[in-house]
Amino acid sequence: MFQNKKILLGVTGGIAAYKAVDLASRLTKLGAEVYTIMTTNACELISPVTFKSITHQKVVTKMFDPNADIEHISLADWADIVIIAPATANIIGKVAHGIADDLLSTTIMATTAPVCFVPAMNIHMYENPIVQENVANLTEHGYFFMEPEFGKLACGYEGKGRFPKTQEIVYFLHTHLNYKRDLIGKKILITAGASREEIDPMRFITNHSSGKMGIALARAAHFRGAEVTLIHSVVTEEIPEYLNAIKTISAKEMYEAVLREFPKNEIVIKAAAVADYTPAIKAVQKIKKKDSLNLELTGTKDILAELGKQKKADQILVGFAAESENIIQNAKEKLEKKNLDFIAANDLSVSGKDNTEIILLGKKTELKLSGTKFEVAHQILDQILGKKSE
Ligand code: CTP
Repeated sequence: MFQNKKILLGVTGGIAAYKAVDLASRLTKLGAEVYTIMTTNACELISPVTFKSITHQKVVTKMFDPNADIEHISLADWADIVIIAPATANIIGKVAHGIADDLLSTTIMATTAPVCFVPAMNIHMYENPIVQENVANLTEHGYFFMEPEFGKLACGYEGKGRFPKTQEIVYFLHTHLNYKRDLIGKKILITAGASREEIDPMRFITNHSSGKMGIALARAAHFRGAEVTLIHSVVTEEIPEYLNAIKTISAKEMYEAVLREFPKNEIVIKAAAVADYTPAIKAVQKIKKKDSLNLELTGTKDILAELGKQKKADQILVGFAAESENIIQNAKEKLEKKNLDFIAANDLSVSGKDNTEIILLGKKTELKLSGTKFEVAHQILDQILGKKSE
């Protein structure tokens, strides 16, 4: 994901500084060359030796170090991307006001590479209007910010201020290294997961969908600036808390939620695996064991087909097709029949847990996309933005 990418990691003096070690480690394992700059306060919390051992690269802590053979300008020029994690209110405030008084702030001011901040601090500090103004100001100037997570903070408070999970930071960084915030102002509805149809209070019918592709699409669209609504059924992965998520269980519940949200969105991607059938009668009591059981199933409503009927000229509708044979032909039929702009055809025999291979079909598109689900999600968004099934 980051093969041969040059990442400059700035670590400032927040208590989450120790979590930046895991980030440095993950980025290094993903193929990146990671140089670390630590502020004086960060060095009070964690040793530079730790980062040096993890990244196998230099760690710089001083502006005028006679032994250092790299300095702020060369590091600023060297980096493909800069990430400040954790970012304290202090470093955010300094950069927002053009103060360059140490190695890290000077490097940030001098670089032309994308700069990403991952703030982590006390809740009241993060909510302080001065910090928020600085964040807004820097965002306006093209700096990228990742929202802190909600939870128990080191200061004892509970609130928004926690350092995000390493994997989420990796996704955030990957997006800003490779893509623009080209979905700002766009409303996107995405569905994910496997619907669950109840037979009785104990049993249900479902399918193998993990929901990972839909979540990857929602995550990628969010980091590119879209206002995302994720309507999901059962998924095997935690839904990132920065997503606006609506939980449904059955095909019927998903139908109602999607139809309600549809008119507000200009791009709709239906990655959910919706049940085609549901038990005709849902038993109120647990069905008792017999020699055999005939289960009568009735068809559910096809949500995507209904959206295809209601679609306005300025809406883009994308479906998925899970196929085990005649992949392209079957997917093309669904593209036509459901009035879609694109369909992502999935060969059930090759799709893995975190990686996937799809063929994206539009009226004039036929494109094979492969990689991690997150990478493929970005590639699908690229095609949608290139618009409209050409
Ligand atoms: N879909 C839907 N509502 C349903 C069934 C499917 O919205 N009741 C959507 C899925 O979200 C997916 C697309 O239709 O985007 C294709 O789903 P798939 O299961 O591949 O195909 P089906 O149309 O159900 O046809 P078949 O099962 O015969 O392949």
